Amino acid sequence: MKRTKIKALLATSPSNQLVTVNGWVRTFRNNQFISINDGSTIQNLQAVVELNSVDESLLKRLTPGACLSVIGELVASLGKGQAVEVKVKQLEILGDCDAEKYPLQLKNRPSLEYLREVAHLRSRTNTFSAVMRVRHAMAFAVHNFFNERGFFYIHTPVITGSDAEGAGAMFRVTTLDPNNPPRNEQGHIDFKEDFFGRETNLTVSGQLEGETYALALSEIYTFGPTFRAENSNTTRHLAEFWMIEPEMAFYDIQDNMQLAQDFLQYLVRYALKNCTEDLEFLNKRAQEEEDAKPKEQRSELGLMDRLKFVSENDFQRLSYTEAIDILKNSNPNKKKKFQYLIDEWGVDLQSEHERFLVEKHFKKPVILYNYPAEIKAFYMRQNEDGKTVAAMDVLFPGIGEIIGGSQREERYDRILKRIHELKLPEKDLWWYLELRKFGSAPHSGFGLGFERLIQFVTGMTNIRDVIPFPRYPGNAEF
Ligand code: 4AD
Ligand code: MG
Repeated sequence: MKRTKIKALLATSPSNQLVTVNGWVRTFRNNQFISINDGSTIQNLQAVVELNSVDESLLKRLTPGACLSVIGELVASLGKGQAVEVKVKQLEILGDCDAEKYPLQLKNRPSLEYLREVAHLRSRTNTFSAVMRVRHAMAFAVHNFFNERGFFYIHTPVITGSDAEGAGAMFRVTTLDPNNPPRNEQGHIDFKEDFFGRETNLTVSGQLEGETYALALSEIYTFGPTFRAENSNTTRHLAEFWMIEPEMAFYDIQDNMQLAQDFLQYLVRYALKNCTEDLEFLNKRAQEEEDAKPKEQRSELGLMDRLKFVSENDFQRLSYTEAIDILKNSNPNKKKKFQYLIDEWGVDLQSEHERFLVEKHFKKPVILYNYPAEIKAFYMRQNEDGKTVAAMDVLFPGIGEIIGGSQREERYDRILKRIHELKLPEKDLWWYLELRKFGSAPHSGFGLGFERLIQFVTGMTNIRDVIPFPRYPGNAEF
């Protein structure tokens, strides 16, 4: 008989029909009540074993984590907590699970830190299955959003020869023998002999390649893995993360900011509407985490309230210069509470400053724009003041920067000058420069860090807990 998923069964009215359920045992109580989860929903299905109907030796094997297949009648449940349950007629263990050795059994409530060490099994917990269902829903919503608006999904390469951010934090891709690489006459490693006949790396961003298609298809987006070899051990950085990068011809920085707000609000609304059960569970777990903190560190709004608030209210737009004024005159700056004090225009903002603006000053998401050129990437459009560029960062409560983007410099002479000033490898960027020679157009785009979005939506505090197998300095297990 064909198996039915638990999510579908729980939405079915019971009429003693026979059903097949496959899943993993969560608990087995009183030698009678099996709680089964198959991952289709956070809810478990209760299967009831009638006395003497199933062999005693089989019941012994119903340990948490064991995989089983049950055939039984779907009936209205007498117990509270569920509308239907299954009266077991037949029971088969598909995979035993040694209760003594099962890593999720060792502790009552394993910590998130411990679960990272067993990332191949943490998928079985309520928390991780809820997070990954939300992650799936958000990926789906990303495609929906752009598809509804006529954007085309472009697959940009994972292996590239360029450094999109000009920041140099890249993983090299090579097939040369590290112990005996070919060398040129000067004794340097000869990458002409390498697989691609040149130096290559894993991409840090699909933006530059994305621009080539925006200047042909008008509105495009990418959605793929990106890689950064920065030694950042924080709750917001991964070495491998997923990024969504829309790129639009004929958009200026204001249009770009509006799209970023519309996009984020759409995603949050989608989650509220389609991930209710998982979000309610995650809301409760986030609340417990909050309650364990000292009072002054707790956030004012719970997860659900935060999501509603963001989806309903306009983001605050603020220039970098205005932000510096606010920060300079802020209490934590005057009382020297900031680790990095703000004294002059031009400094890069740290996450303590971003959080102050978002969480304390405006109490809503902030879009900061027009940053000093010196602290931003080479491709950003230079403003007429000669000091700032049309950059924008979207800052979220509890997260900090969730989106970074800009209007792009579409003027050939201006961008070439900037490439020279920054001593970037002009020869590698020849094709990018040609876009500015042949039918250039004003255009803009941004990048949304997918895991930071998932952190915001699920309320998980560590980015390592919103991707199945996190990659960070010192860790590439699994
Ligand atoms: O601000 P970033 O570096 O911007 C770019 O890469 C541009 N090329 C985007 C564009 O304009 N098309 O990165 C964009 C976003 C950040 O705002 C952040 O959310 C996320 O990507 N991000 C990271 N997420 C996890 N781990 C890291 N190491 C990240 N670095 C950036
Ligand atoms: Mg950035």
